Amino acid sequence: MKVGILTGGGDCPGLNSAIRAVVRKGVREYRMEFVGIRDGWRGMIDADGFPLTEEDVSGILVKGGTILGSSRTNPLKMEDGIRKVDEGFAKLGLDALITIGGDDTLSVASEMSKAGLKVIGIPKTIDNDLLGTERTIGFATAFNTVVDAIDKLHTTAESHHRVMILEVMGRHAGWIATLSGIAGGADLILIPERPFDLEEICAIIKKRHIRKKFTIIVVAEGAAPKGGKVTTKSGELDAFGHVALGGVAHWLKNEIQARTGFETRYSILGHIQRGGTPCAEDRLLATRLGVKAVYLAHMNTFGVMVALRNNKIEYISLEEAVKDRQVDDEWYDIAKTFFG
Ligand code: F6P
Repeated sequence: MKVGILTGGGDCPGLNSAIRAVVRKGVREYRMEFVGIRDGWRGMIDADGFPLTEEDVSGILVKGGTILGSSRTNPLKMEDGIRKVDEGFAKLGLDALITIGGDDTLSVASEMSKAGLKVIGIPKTIDNDLLGTERTIGFATAFNTVVDAIDKLHTTAESHHRVMILEVMGRHAGWIATLSGIAGGADLILIPERPFDLEEICAIIKKRHIRKKFTIIVVAEGAAPKGGKVTTKSGELDAFGHVALGGVAHWLKNEIQARTGFETRYSILGHIQRGGTPCAEDRLLATRLGVKAVYLAHMNTFGVMVALRNNKIEYISLEEAVKDRQVDDEWYDIAKTFFG
C-alpha cells in the first residue's frame, strides 16, 4: 500500500512525532510505502511529493514544526479543487492519504472522503478545538509555553504594581487562555465564548487592587466585548475565509488604564506559543495517534479521524470531528472561581 502524508494549517509542536510514528509502524509492520506531500493541500493539487523513508523520519520525534511543510491552501475554494486533488492522488500513485490538521485541513479531508478518496485524519492544533477528541497535537506544548509566560509576567506585575495583559491564540475557542490561565493563576480570563463587560472587568480590578496591587489578565485573540467586534490586524482573509486576529490586548490596555487609573501593560505571545520542541505529552499523543492512523489504513478503514477519548485512542467519522469544540461551563466556572 502506498500512503501519502500531509500536514496542513498552522504548524505546531508534535507534527513530526506523528509523521515518524506513521512511517515507522507502516514500513516495519505493514511493508507500506510513504509519500511526503509538500505544504498541505497545495502539494496534493500540484502532485508535489517525495518518497518518505524510515531514514527521513529518524531523529524527528523531538523536532518542532513539520518536515513536510504546511500551507492554508483550500482546494474547496478553487475551481475544480476536488478534481485536482483526485488527479494529484492518482499522479502520485497513492492508495490512501493521511492528513494531519485542524478543522480547516480536516474539513477538506472530510469533503474529499465524501468524494471517494481514501483518507484518514489526525487532529492537531494548539487551539484544542476539534469536536470528538479531548486533545489535539500541539496543545500541551502551547499550554506549557503560555503558563511559563504568565509566570514571567507575574514578576513585573508584582514589582511595578501593574495590570499585565497576555494575549494568546484562540480564534473561536478559548482553551489555551482558560487552561493556561487557571494553571498560571490569572486573575481574569477573557475568551471568545464569553463576551466580556468592560465595566465589570474594571470593577473587579479596582476591588482586587485594594488587597493586591497587581492583576494578570489572559485574553484570547478572539475575545470581544458584549455587543462589540473582535480586533483584527488587517482586513485580509486567508483561503479559509479567516481574518487575521490580533490586538485585543492593546485595546484593553488603553481602556483599563483610562478607566481604573492603574498602570497597564500588555504582551502578545503570537507564534512563540506555536513553536519549539514538543513536550513529552505531545510526543506521546502524536505517537499514539500516528500508530492508530496507520493501523486503520492497513485495515482499510477510511473517512475517519483518530481521537483521544477517555484516555484511549479511538476513531470517529471525519464529518463529526470537524465541528468546533468550545470551552464549556465546567471549565469556565473553575476559572471564574479565581477571578479578582
Ligand atoms: O493554529 C491555529 C491558530 O493558532 C489560530 O488560533 C490563530 O488565529 C492562527 O493559528 C494564526 O496563524 P497564522 O498567523 O500562522 O496564520
